[in-house]
Amino acid sequence: MAETRDTTGGLRWHLRALWRRRQWHETTRQIAEWLDTTQPASRHLLLIGGSAGWMMSGRWLQRFSRIDLIDLDPFAYRLFSWNHGRALRESGTELHYASIDALANLDALLRKHPDATLFFDNVLGQHLFRIWQIERAEADLARTAQQLKGRDWGSVHDLFSGPTDPLKVPVSAVTQFDAVRDANGLLADGLRGTPLHLRLLAQVGGQPEWVDHLTSELFPVGTASRLIAWPFVPDYAHWLQAGWVSGR
Ligand SMILES: C[S@@+](CC[C@H](N)C(=O)[O-])C[C@H]1O[C@@H](n2cnc3c(N)ncnc32)[C@H](O)[C@@H]1O
Repeated sequence: MAETRDTTGGLRWHLRALWRRRQWHETTRQIAEWLDTTQPASRHLLLIGGSAGWMMSGRWLQRFSRIDLIDLDPFAYRLFSWNHGRALRESGTELHYASIDALANLDALLRKHPDATLFFDNVLGQHLFRIWQIERAEADLARTAQQLKGRDWGSVHDLFSGPTDPLKVPVSAVTQFDAVRDANGLLADGLRGTPLHLRLLAQVGGQPEWVDHLTSELFPVGTASRLIAWPFVPDYAHWLQAGWVSGR
């Protein structure tokens, strides 16, 4: 399996996110802009893999009256409070935290919070790189989508990532595309499959050996999404996919 750069959380993630905050600003802004277009059905949010919310919009979080941050990372709660505590106090939003494996315990979480909206915050595209088994990761992600049937949920996750050559980034690169999942897969800019992949790679100066994060068919057929470029470090980038599945 090709190499990826660590985005799965922990101290390394926090230090990197703090250090790269300015370089990630445009991606964070595009995620916030997309989040503003969503219409969560509930004022209770289960924020799965929210970590410290380095790339999360405080403005969007203020819509909720209660947030349950669910993340395996022991640093998540304190750093999330540091980043978003003030905004949450202003909106009177209650913050709760649980350190549990949200994918392994998803059914129990859904039963415990039958009316909550769920948001998977850059976690589902990381699953393969937590367990390092392609077939199992594919099966786990397909099962997760099944378990969420009928629920109101959204996700931002990695689609692809890989090495880039900063000298090959086009001057007027396109850093977001609207996409839709149809019966044949993901369609954006009139392209699908390899031509879409190459179009995305070209915008960030991508080199051929890119990694597929197994998420391009996660959303149900008919789901609209936005693809957002994330220049992770100068010589490595990700394409994120952000989408919402209404449970109504
Ligand atoms: C890339 S980080 C998320 C970053 C976050 N969106 C931000 O803006 O800072 C992924 C997070 O998901 C958490 N995570 C990964 N798998 C998980 C699981 N199965 N259950 C709960 N948390 C998980 C990791 O601990 C990590 O904090």
